[in-house]
Amino acid sequence: MTTEELQTLVLTTLDSNDSIDDTKELKGSDGKEVDQLALLGALKSLADKEMVKYNTIENEIWVLTEEGNEIVDKGSHEAIVFEAIPASEEGISISELQKLLGDSGKIGQGRAFKNKWINKKGGNLIRIVDSIIDQPRIDLDIIRSTGKHPDPKVPTELKKRKLCDKHKIISYSVTKGPQFSLTIKKQARDITFEMLQSGEWKKANFKNYNFDALGIPPSGGHLHPLMKVREELRQIFFEMGFEEMPTNRFVESSFWNFDALFQPQQHPARDAHDTFFLKDPAVGTQFPTEYLERVKKVHSVGGYGSNGYGYDWKIEEAQKLLLRTHTTAVSSFMLYNLAQKEFKPVKYFSIDRVFRNETVDATHLAEFNQVEGVIADKGLALGDLIGFMETFFEKMGIKKLRFKPAYNPYTEPSMEIFSYHEGLGKWVEIGNSGMFRPEMLEPMGLDPEVRVIAWGLGLERPTMIKYGIENIRELLGHKVNLTMIENNPICAFDLI
Ligand code: PHE
Repeated sequence: MTTEELQTLVLTTLDSNDSIDDTKELKGSDGKEVDQLALLGALKSLADKEMVKYNTIENEIWVLTEEGNEIVDKGSHEAIVFEAIPASEEGISISELQKLLGDSGKIGQGRAFKNKWINKKGGNLIRIVDSIIDQPRIDLDIIRSTGKHPDPKVPTELKKRKLCDKHKIISYSVTKGPQFSLTIKKQARDITFEMLQSGEWKKANFKNYNFDALGIPPSGGHLHPLMKVREELRQIFFEMGFEEMPTNRFVESSFWNFDALFQPQQHPARDAHDTFFLKDPAVGTQFPTEYLERVKKVHSVGGYGSNGYGYDWKIEEAQKLLLRTHTTAVSSFMLYNLAQKEFKPVKYFSIDRVFRNETVDATHLAEFNQVEGVIADKGLALGDLIGFMETFFEKMGIKKLRFKPAYNPYTEPSMEIFSYHEGLGKWVEIGNSGMFRPEMLEPMGLDPEVRVIAWGLGLERPTMIKYGIENIRELLGHKVNLTMIENNPICAFDLI
């Protein structure tokens, strides 16, 4: 039945009877009970117009299970066993009965014994009564046709045998509302210009406001998962007393990106295969002159207790502009600035983009985000770096760390950081760290007592793990699904 048909049925019934005690009694034109869920829709819209009022009635009825239905159709297992045993004196052998009835024979035998319907004689089963009354079948039949049983204990017992079950059914009682009428007037939603002009608004019947309706979800900007994880990390840094470094220079000179970091000019990373160099403008020329001289010296002839690399350092190489390959370029610039003032211990961090001329695959792009931390203070040692890493990663929810000796031109000692990934069941590399070399720090003018510990990690890998993204192209670029961006929750590290 359509909603309109149901509404007409309700209204005409009310017109002749004044009220409907239980909509279960309503019959459609086909003579069948009406569907209560469809009826609810019809009642709601009539109630909105105040044409009717309704209340919900909750009824419990008993419904047979498949096995219960089978018993009504064929008899209980015990009755079937009784029927299968011939009335003769010798009865039937157990194996014969088994063949006849299969599993249901086994179940039925026990009950037939208990009911004192059958007994054993020799190896055979015999009847010990002339006739039986199959009570479960009678009870189940009553339940099947009425939904209940005069003795409420009966269905509860039968439920234990999984023969019937309790179901809740909902129906309604309905009475006339103040606007009761047999015809449904169309209701106006909004007042319109035409209604105002014609004066129709005075007579119009307006739809009630539904203050329970959910609003339309507001649209607005959404943070990219990377930005959510970045924000979480920023909070960890701030909580630990770090200052954020300005990372607004994507274009850097080779000087700050490599030379200041004691990275030799013939180092393979400085090759165009690994680094994006700029064509126009191709060079930068503004460097602190004295510092530049000291950098040149430490590379070519050494100093500060170092032999240097012993090669012919060229300014042209340092002037080449590039897209920064690591945020350590920012750290070197910041440490140089720190060295120009009276020393005070600092903790710096940055999270921003870096670029490498790499082959793009499922987990690598030619650009990615680096998280970088730097701590400068007198008397820091490798133990401080390890201890600090443990606290920092613990705040990210990463507990098991391992350190592996590594090499960076600008740190000594250097350590790769591994963490145990429970999901992958193995140790994965999560970052790189070390203590900046005197060849990097002393030419800047820093007190030789000052030690700087530093580390870097990628932002993409933890984000992909956190949000269950397998291909980096689903995280960045034109293939990104915007719904993913809108629906992903904020990032919260599983804190311990
Ligand atoms: N710059 C390093 C990298 O790009 C990370 C690093 C930072 C290592 C600071 C040591 C100290 O992988």
